[in-house]
Amino acid sequence: MNQHWVLFILTYVAIHVVGQQRKQQSIPKGPRSINLFVINDENNDVANRSVGNSLKNIRDKHPEWLGNVLIVKINGAEPHEALEKICSTWDKAVRNGGPNVPDLLLDMTRSGFGAETVNSFTSAVGIPTLSTQFGQIDDLRHWRDLTDDKKLYLIQVMQPADLIPDAIRQLSIQMNISNAAIIFDDNFIMDHKYKSLLVNVPTRHVIVKSKNTKKQIDEQLTRIRSLDLVNFFILSNDKVLTSILDDAEAKNFTNKKYGWYGFSLDDVDPKCDCKNITILFFKPKITTLNQQRISELTTKGSLPKPILTSAFYYDLTKLGVLAMRLSTEDGSWPYEPPHITCNEYNGNNTPIRNFDFLKQLNKTMTNNDFQPTFASFYWGRKNGQHHAKFDMKVSLIVIDNGNTISTDELGTWEAGIDSPLKVTYYIYLTI
Ligand SMILES: *[C@@H]1O[C@H](CO)[C@@H](O)[C@H](O)[C@H]1NC(C)=O
Ligand SMILES: *[C@@H]1O[C@H](CO)[C@@H](O)[C@H](O)[C@H]1NC(C)=O
Ligand SMILES: *[C@@H]1O[C@H](CO)[C@@H](O)[C@H](O)[C@H]1NC(C)=O
Ligand SMILES: *[C@@H]1O[C@H](CO)[C@@H](O)[C@H](O)[C@H]1NC(C)=O
Ligand SMILES: *[C@@H]1O[C@H](CO)[C@@H](O)[C@H](O)[C@H]1NC(C)=O
Repeated sequence: MNQHWVLFILTYVAIHVVGQQRKQQSIPKGPRSINLFVINDENNDVANRSVGNSLKNIRDKHPEWLGNVLIVKINGAEPHEALEKICSTWDKAVRNGGPNVPDLLLDMTRSGFGAETVNSFTSAVGIPTLSTQFGQIDDLRHWRDLTDDKKLYLIQVMQPADLIPDAIRQLSIQMNISNAAIIFDDNFIMDHKYKSLLVNVPTRHVIVKSKNTKKQIDEQLTRIRSLDLVNFFILSNDKVLTSILDDAEAKNFTNKKYGWYGFSLDDVDPKCDCKNITILFFKPKITTLNQQRISELTTKGSLPKPILTSAFYYDLTKLGVLAMRLSTEDGSWPYEPPHITCNEYNGNNTPIRNFDFLKQLNKTMTNNDFQPTFASFYWGRKNGQHHAKFDMKVSLIVIDNGNTISTDELGTWEAGIDSPLKVTYYIYLTI
């Protein structure tokens, strides 16, 4: 592309953007329907169902809140194909401009090449985004060096399953745990944790994905034991936990020498055919009010398991729509937002938005219109700080002859990165 052409595009975009902003600020028109662009990984079925149900619920109750909803499913392992899919849908949607172009992008991918593609795309075209990708500060590679303008509207919110593993770090530090086998199931993504979870903690450890069959689980536990690891941290649903504990029982890995720790995204209790095992167990703390809202939605089939994850997707979708609606109402987001197509993007012509989406999200939360089903949200100053806000209940559970014979509630942990465990744990530490 020759220089004049680039200059022309830049000038054109600048004038166009300024013109649009002036226009919409001088003619306040009240709130309008919000147009969504949803991108999900084809493997993320929980997000598919939770976002879908949240949108359906909005349409049923407030049909005027939602306009166009475009949904793109990508295969996370194929970044080029993913980009093509995203761009063909995007370019078609913005080519004609007008009031039906997307206002908000919901990025429900979790990690990997496909997710990275979404980050490059959102940063290039400058669409306000809520991303639920896993990762701590600076882990989202293409969102590391955002301009000040983009920092305000490209927002990542860490989901419950991204926070809970940090309890392992806190336990390891406080209990001086010398070795740890961390086993996680499909509901957790540990890509970013291999290097960071136990950094500067002298705990020898492995982090491995749980296996599916009885035979594979048995082999996995044998392999872990051969590494001389005796403290097991299981991040999983109840079924996987039970299979692991049953196998551990058969191997006599449940006596005093071993330490067992379970972490659940659902409000369940550990079960196993164990003769005598003690487990330190973390599960979401649910208030009576939460319980009512959750049962209402689960009976309608709106919240698939794990509940903590699906409620997060469900609530964030609604919050995003409400925050954009507020923004069209108060004029901070234009009536007809100017967009560039993927094709038009030349490396530095992302429209300037002057849009503080973070502030609008925060404001929406404090309005009465928004009531989370379960977890709430914490807004920090930058990405890697915003996260789902909820507590985990911590109990010491003893299972004897397959029955839970005691449950000592030791307190709660406020889920978060570097969130300390409370003093009450020392009861357990000193046993
Ligand atoms: C969920 O998946 C179905 C089947 O592929 C698809 O039609 C639908 O648009 C998806 N919904 C969301 C919100 O991802
Ligand atoms: C862990 O180690 C520190 C320093 O060695 C010690 O002060 C603390 O009491 C230990 N904690 C437990 C639970 O053993
Ligand atoms: C189980 O392990 C304990 C402690 O290491 C040992 O005393 C006991 O004999 C073992 N039981 C079996 C059935 O291997
Ligand atoms: C269960 O194991 C604990 C120690 O691991 C021991 O103190 C307790 O006596 C055992 N209970 C039974 C019923 O064997
Ligand atoms: C969110 O709003 C509260 C007051 O309503 C304010 O104290 C806080 O600083 C705001 N946070 C952000 C990130 O804007």
